[in-house]
Amino acid sequence: MAESKSENVVWHHTSVNRDARIRVSGQKSAVLWFTGLSGSGKSTIANALELRLNQAGKLSYLLDGDNVRHGLCSDLGFSETERKENNRRVSHVAKLLWDANVMTLVSFISPFKQERDISRGLIGHDFLEVFVDTPFEICETRDPKGLYVKARKGEISQFTGISSPYEPPDHPEITLYTDKESVDESVERIVALLIERGYL
Ligand SMILES: Nc1ncnc2c1ncn2[C@@H]1O[C@H](COP(=O)(O)OP(=O)(O)O)[C@@H](O)[C@H]1O
Ligand SMILES: [Mg+2]
Repeated sequence: MAESKSENVVWHHTSVNRDARIRVSGQKSAVLWFTGLSGSGKSTIANALELRLNQAGKLSYLLDGDNVRHGLCSDLGFSETERKENNRRVSHVAKLLWDANVMTLVSFISPFKQERDISRGLIGHDFLEVFVDTPFEICETRDPKGLYVKARKGEISQFTGISSPYEPPDHPEITLYTDKESVDESVERIVALLIERGYL
């Protein structure tokens, strides 16, 4: 699915690049890539972080997995091939937003290490992997969307953590422990990382 069919299409160089956008905007974009099990807290924390960034006067955009699957990726299911294609599309959209110099937050399970590494390779050193490391049992107890109950009953196939694998990152830029810290504490730790790396 991912190979290029555009051999006769030549990249058109544009005069305004990200550096030029940085100069006129007073901000510098990063891609914050949240990964973790369903119910780990990705959407909750990403949403709270985006609000914080907005209050700090930063232009931002949150690409949430569930929302993306309503439009851009509505044709995709949850097989390994389709999850990879989902990851590929989201990474390219994230790269466009990053290039537009928008603070970009991505929150979807993104269970495969190799696919996340491809996203990292595409975006480069502004890619910050945020591992929402919530134990499986806690995610299952929270079950904010009732999906674990359905997956246990066999009503959902290929459910991450039950019938489909989750591969944790080896070297995330930050790991959040939502069983031990509040949403606000997680947000503050990400803000501290953004300050340390020169994005805020
Ligand atoms: N410290 C915490 N950080 C994030 N979410 C938490 C925390 N404690 C409890 N929760 C709850 O866990 C659930 C996480 O759901 P959600 O953000 O939709 O997960 P995901 O997007 O990873 O599937 C929410 O109901 C949220 O209120
Ligand atoms: Mg979510």
